[in-house]
Amino acid sequence: MSSLQNKRIVVGITGGIAAYKTIEFIRLLRKANAEVRVVLTPAAAEFVTPLTLQAISGNAVSHSLLDPQAELAMGHIELAKWADFVVIAPASADFLARLNAGMANDLLSTICLATAAPIFVAPAMNQQMFRQAITQQNIQSLRLRGVEFIGPNSGEQACGDVGAGRMSEPAEIFTVLENAVSLSQDLMGLSVAITAGPTQEAIDPVRYISNHSSGKMGFAIAQAFAQRGATVTLISGPVNLPTPNNVRRIDVVSAQQMWQAALESAVQNSLFIGCAAVADYRVANIAEQKIKKAGDEMQLTLVKNPDIIADVGHLRENRPFTVGFAAETQNVAEYAKDKLQRKKLDMICANDVSGGQVFGADQNALQLFWQNGSIKLPQSSKQQQAQKLVDAIVEKMNEKTNEKN
Ligand code: PMT
Repeated sequence: MSSLQNKRIVVGITGGIAAYKTIEFIRLLRKANAEVRVVLTPAAAEFVTPLTLQAISGNAVSHSLLDPQAELAMGHIELAKWADFVVIAPASADFLARLNAGMANDLLSTICLATAAPIFVAPAMNQQMFRQAITQQNIQSLRLRGVEFIGPNSGEQACGDVGAGRMSEPAEIFTVLENAVSLSQDLMGLSVAITAGPTQEAIDPVRYISNHSSGKMGFAIAQAFAQRGATVTLISGPVNLPTPNNVRRIDVVSAQQMWQAALESAVQNSLFIGCAAVADYRVANIAEQKIKKAGDEMQLTLVKNPDIIADVGHLRENRPFTVGFAAETQNVAEYAKDKLQRKKLDMICANDVSGGQVFGADQNALQLFWQNGSIKLPQSSKQQQAQKLVDAIVEKMNEKTNEKN
């Protein structure tokens, strides 16, 4: 039986030549006994007819925000609430920009804004439009907010260009959705606390010591757990990122504040992940007033910060399964394995950050170590690394539980 059986799916179609492929996607959904409501943008109606979509989906097709008849049958807010999932295929560059901006200037964007259902998008556009920095920024920002991307694929395009931007095939979109639905809530009951981002250690009221962590890796992990139904607490240093859906966020600034929040959370959760780049040292005496320039040199005395993950790893009571990170520029595996032992962790994610890669970047490649094993995650987006990391952690946690029983 398909996981999509009896699921209510709003299929949004935006303007693009790939719209004809969506007919086959809807057919697959209907074959899996899903309920389908189709919403067209005005541009999409130029490519596929409401009549065809009505026949395939078995329901009236909606295409206007200000259509009294449609509002009588099923209003836009009702449709947003009705949906278990929203799938937009094809999603044009224009639609992604509007979705990212939170606009509600047509029926489909309004439904997306008004729904609490997970949103999947299958982009389709010219390869140059796809590569544009602004489109990539929109995609990145939507991903961080929990929108799932399916494709696009690479290849020859309708306009004659060759490159990334072709909509995924209907069967691919169907499979991703089906898998996501069967996975969707499998981690319900698991509670996880995650640290992310940098810390800032004040020197005086206007200066601080920090590092280049953007928080992207830690936020991606929080999102990956939340999407699978886990209860997630994200303890974040100062970053410029939106909070992923269904994640409780605690903002901190210094390592000492992060330590306080993390230790309180650790004992209340079954899993703790230290992804933050915590300052090892802080300024011994923070100046009360801005330090004035004087002389050619100045000296700051630094004192050691508490080691958050080591303190969690060494907890005697209510110790969660503890996963650390090791950001290293040399001897990566060796240093990571040393931290695994010294900090008493269950798992460590070795991160080769040599050459300025990883900090602030969208991609990563982790190597995971545990007591008697290791696995390499090939380079991919931080979102994909996070999903693989979640799988690996859950597997090791289950093994540990089985050993105890
Ligand atoms: O935020 P991004 O831009 O996406 O970058 C991601 C990242 C590179 C920051 C992340 O993937 C990463 O590797 N985080 C760990 C960075 C780090 O400080 O590593 P470390 O080797 O110095 O620390 C080892 C472990 O101890 C880490 O789990 C760290 O959170 C923890 N630690 C360190 C010092 C301290 N005082 N308390 C700690 O808990």
